[in-house]
Amino acid sequence: MAYLQPDKEGKVYLPAIRAAKERGEKLVCLTAYDYPTARIVDEAGVDMILVGDSIGNVIHGYGNTIPVSLDEITSACIAVKRGTERAMVVADMPFGTYHISENESVKNALRLMKYGGAEAVKLEGGRNRSDLVKRLVDEEIPVVAHIGLTPQSVYKMGGYRVQGRTAEQAKRLIEDAKLLEEAGAFAVVLELVPRELAGMITKELTISTIGIGAGAECDIQVLVLHDLVGMTFGRQPRFVRRYADIGQVMTDAIKNWSADVKSGAYPNDSESYGLTDETKREMSA
Ligand code: KIV
Repeated sequence: MAYLQPDKEGKVYLPAIRAAKERGEKLVCLTAYDYPTARIVDEAGVDMILVGDSIGNVIHGYGNTIPVSLDEITSACIAVKRGTERAMVVADMPFGTYHISENESVKNALRLMKYGGAEAVKLEGGRNRSDLVKRLVDEEIPVVAHIGLTPQSVYKMGGYRVQGRTAEQAKRLIEDAKLLEEAGAFAVVLELVPRELAGMITKELTISTIGIGAGAECDIQVLVLHDLVGMTFGRQPRFVRRYADIGQVMTDAIKNWSADVKSGAYPNDSESYGLTDETKREMSA
């Protein structure tokens, strides 16, 4: 696999993320799961690309993230890495790949880095993951934590609901965020938590918060690319703002092409290849 020079100018690594927090500069993160979208996202100047386990919903149609496998994320990550020059590539650790033992979790995270090309890994959980985060960081694996709504806990939580709405839950999330920072995570995703709580956590921490459905005060905003551009189906969460309707653009293109094929307008002569005059002469001789 041909990887870019790690010291390429402008490439986003941990120091750039830390420096942005210190300057109070907002950064942006989007998901990507393949080469073309990674190229588009990277070339658009996005700072961080998440090879999210939302691949389970968006690409594989599983309905949730539980079935996503390490192979699926690794394969997506290889493609994303090849399409990315500047952004930091972060790979999600799928459900079941960091739950059995610390050693196995390290092995799986290393796989995402060595074969997938990930530059950091993300895992869900609060204080229950702090020892693991420390171990991964001790093994030179940069870690993004993820608290609030943690979609891999969907069966335990019984759905996708805003987290941290009571004072007790909010305090617990603040404690979790601090423990994860102490454990060595360099950023923490805050998913679907009240904006005031996300603001408090962002102020308390020296590491970056990455918000999704968590208001404007987070240091970094993340969205699922396919939500942003109109390539997901059904009711969208309140925090999704659609900036394009690529699904409709694709539908129109496909319908127009089909109609042209049926009417004989596609392909025309300039869209196909002809015999040379010499070949025609020889064939008719
Ligand atoms: O998998 C994913 O896309 C995520 C984001 C929603 C943060 O975890």
